[in-house]
Amino acid sequence: MNIALSFPRTALAAAVLLLAACGKQEAAPAAPSVAQAAPPAAAQPAAEIVVYSTRNEQLIKPVFDAYTAQTGVKISFVTDKEGPLLERLKNEGANTPADLLLTVDAGTLWQAAHLQLLQPVDSASLQKDVAGHLRDPGKQWYGLSARARSIFYNPTLVKPEELSTYQALADDQWAGKLCLRTSKKVYNQSLVAMLIAANGEAATEAMVRGWVENLATAPFPDDTKLLEAIAAGQCAVGIANTYYFGRLQRDKPDIAVQVFWPNQGEGQDGVHVNIAGAGVTAHAKHRDEAVKLLEWMASDKAQNLFADSNMEYPVNWSVKPAPAVSAWGDFRPSAINISKAGELQAQAVQLMDRAGYQ
Ligand SMILES: [Fe+2]
Repeated sequence: MNIALSFPRTALAAAVLLLAACGKQEAAPAAPSVAQAAPPAAAQPAAEIVVYSTRNEQLIKPVFDAYTAQTGVKISFVTDKEGPLLERLKNEGANTPADLLLTVDAGTLWQAAHLQLLQPVDSASLQKDVAGHLRDPGKQWYGLSARARSIFYNPTLVKPEELSTYQALADDQWAGKLCLRTSKKVYNQSLVAMLIAANGEAATEAMVRGWVENLATAPFPDDTKLLEAIAAGQCAVGIANTYYFGRLQRDKPDIAVQVFWPNQGEGQDGVHVNIAGAGVTAHAKHRDEAVKLLEWMASDKAQNLFADSNMEYPVNWSVKPAPAVSAWGDFRPSAINISKAGELQAQAVQLMDRAGYQ
């Protein structure tokens, strides 16, 4: 425990020193368009990076503030939902002020790349820092934190030995006991897309039909309400992102909900892990600065800051999760590239629709 607690602090202290040194280099203008009349004495004015972000402002602002404090580079950002932000990028075209698109789902990043709103970034440090399956094979976007979508259960109603896989939640044993969030949420679309990638369409459709038959109640609008329904005994099991559980647990340490890591058996695909991540926009005016920010967020200098604020997992395996997150235990994540969440999203939506999953 002591090691886990002290590790991030040491890493951060080192980061401050390293970045203080790096900051001097970064003050040099990155591109001719950035160059302004140099101030008489000290460093050149740093470029201002513009980020379009779907990540909650409370979570991302401290990350940007830390970068600005360490490098002098200013960051301005716009926060909105994925649909409006993609639309805005599309409409602005070459005139967009955005340098970086930051989202909380791989499917959205895949979509952005597919719409040619991003550009490839060939960076040795990003290749090294971001786990291979949590970044775009085409190098257009990179994961920055990993979000596990796992099974949760009420320990007074369920023994963990009764649980095994996402697929087993379709068994008769769970009739009237399963809670799900709406299929309209991109998190579930990505989950089903990744299960199609692992197990094929027919098996996944049979699973989703079984889930629908087992529902205790109509799908929930959000993960928090779902977890509260498990705690209240309205349902025995459900599927949610771990950070929603973390928030509830922080407020109510004795809440009657436990996490279970599914699909851990030999030959099974592992826990579904999505990402929050980012890519440099196709028409970025401050490309080099945006790449440096991306590299910094993925590095051991900032991974705890980025992931811990939302009780998520680092995408950089050299960095340990926060102690409250580590306390949930180890698991094996799916090793299938998360770009499949985007590639198979439309197929997943159609499948859920056919299966009657609202
Ligand atoms: Fe979320």
